[in-house]
Amino acid sequence: MKRILTGLQPSGELTLGSLIGSIGQMVMYQNEYESFIFVPDMHAITVKQDPKLLKERVIKNVALYIACGLDPSKNVIYIQSENLYHANLSWVLECNTYIGEASRMTQFKDKSKKQDNVTVGLFTYPILMAADILLYDADYVPVGVDQKQHVELARDISERFNKTYGNTFKIPEPLIPEVGAKIMDLSDPTRKMSKSDVTGKGVIYLLDDEKTIRKKIMSAVTDSESKVYYDLVNKPGISNLLTIYSSLKEISIKETEEHFKDCNYGNLKKEVADLVVEKLSIIQEKYNNLINSEELDKILDNGKDVTNVIAKKKLEEVFNKVGLGRY
Ligand code: TYM
Repeated sequence: MKRILTGLQPSGELTLGSLIGSIGQMVMYQNEYESFIFVPDMHAITVKQDPKLLKERVIKNVALYIACGLDPSKNVIYIQSENLYHANLSWVLECNTYIGEASRMTQFKDKSKKQDNVTVGLFTYPILMAADILLYDADYVPVGVDQKQHVELARDISERFNKTYGNTFKIPEPLIPEVGAKIMDLSDPTRKMSKSDVTGKGVIYLLDDEKTIRKKIMSAVTDSESKVYYDLVNKPGISNLLTIYSSLKEISIKETEEHFKDCNYGNLKKEVADLVVEKLSIIQEKYNNLINSEELDKILDNGKDVTNVIAKKKLEEVFNKVGLGRY
C-alpha cells in the first residue's frame, strides 16, 4: 500500500484553507493509502511562540484533525517533537543541501521580509520538512500549492542522497488538490488565507462561531461587476468564494458557476456562508466532544510508538551510510 504523509504547523489556529488544501485531501485518501499526519510543532518555533499557547494548540490541532474526518484507526497521528529522529535526520540532510538550493525557497524570502529578527531555523526549516517526509518513505505528500516547492526540495535532496550513498529514500511526490490549492484571504483575495495573519479579518478559523463566519463572508471583498463567474485574474474575490463552495460541496468549478449564474453577490455570499457554517458546525461539535477526552492521549501515544520504530530504523540506515556511529 502506498503511503501519504502531511503536517500542519501549530503556529496559529487552523483555517478553512488548512481544511481545504490539506486535511480534506487526507480525509479523501485515507481509505486508499496508509496515512500519516502529524503536528510539526518544531516548525512552529522558527518564529517566536508563547510556549503555553503552543502546547495547547498542538492538542487542539490533533482534535481538529479527527473532527475534520480523519479516522484514528486509519491514520497514524503524532507530534513531531515526540520523535527525536526528525531533527537528527534533518542535520544529516542539512549537510547534504546547498545554500543555493535553500536560498531559492520563496516562502523564506516572503516570511523573512515581514520580520526583523529572522532565525536560522526559518531558513533551514524546509530541510526539516524534507526529514519529516523522508524518514517515513512517504510516496505522496498532500499539500496546498504554497508547500509544493518544499516537497520538490525534499525530492531533490533524496535523489542526490540516493545517488551518493545508494538507494535509501523513496522520492516523494506532492499531491495538490485540483480545486482549493490556495484559498485566498476574504478581505484581500490577492493574498493567501493564512493562519498567521495579524488581523484575521479575512480568515475563517475552523473554530469561529456562526456569527463571525457570516460576518467575514458577507464582507468579503469582491469587484464592481455584478455577474458571478470564475476569473482568477479579474475577479479574485468571486473566484475565491466559488472555489470555497466547490471544494466543500465536492463539485467542479463549472457546476458551481452554473449553480450561481443568476445570483447576485449578496445571494452568493449568503449561500457560501450557509455551507461553511453547516460544515464547520459539524466539525466543531465533534471537536468539543474530543478536546478534553483521554482518547487523544491514547491516539498520540500510539502515534509516538509507531513512528519511533519506523524512524529509528531509517535513521540508523542513514547514519550507517554516511559513516556515523557503530551501526
Ligand atoms: P502550513 O502549516 O503553512 O499549512 C498546512 C497545510 O495547509 C495548506 N494551506 C492551504 N491550502 C490552501 N489554501 C490555503 N489558504 C492554505 N493555507 C495552508 C498548506 O499548503 C499545507 O499543506 N511546512 C508545512 C508543514 C509541514 C509539512 C511537513 C507538510 C512540516 N513538515 C511535511 C507536509 C509534509 C507548513 O508550514 O504548512
